Amino acid sequence: MTETQDNRSLYDICGREYFVALVDAFYDGVETDSILMAMYPDGADTTEARQRLTLFLVQYWGGPHDYMEQRGHPMLRMRHGGFAIDAQARDRWLLHMASAIEHTLHLVPEPERDSVVQQLASYVVNAAEHLRNQ
Ligand code: HEM
Repeated sequence: MTETQDNRSLYDICGREYFVALVDAFYDGVETDSILMAMYPDGADTTEARQRLTLFLVQYWGGPHDYMEQRGHPMLRMRHGGFAIDAQARDRWLLHMASAIEHTLHLVPEPERDSVVQQLASYVVNAAEHLRNQ
């Protein structure tokens, strides 16, 4: 479910700058995490990974389809197949995402805040479990 009751998407509500800030906060946390960082093909440089995740989330939550244009169909399970994602990696990923959601709460308009956070949180929990491959 990517829409609220009045049919505005999360992208309509929060804007692109919210997703940029969310992903920046998330990757700032990931960069401190040696278990996750060991998986990143570009080593310590997360610039492009930040852009990919931002474009993906913007598209998923109802914004422009730049991700699709640049990267093709997401196929996230396939794209994560090369990374050893066990319960520990999943939980660390989710920890950094939960912290990023918390740190960017103030960027979500107040009337929608609870609903946005609930939708995002339940989505990432499910998506991360879906990507677990060990
Ligand atoms: C469960 C723990 C997860 C781990 C350990 C993980 C790890 C990674 C790694 C190492 C990359 C490569 C970085 C890059 O070059 O872009 C990546 C890419 C990506 N991840 Fe994850 N990920 C996880 C969960 C998720 C979830 C839940 C989502 C979506 C909500 C997601 C979305 C993406 C996207 C969109 C890319 C870029 C794919 C591409 O276009 O190549 N990941 N992930």
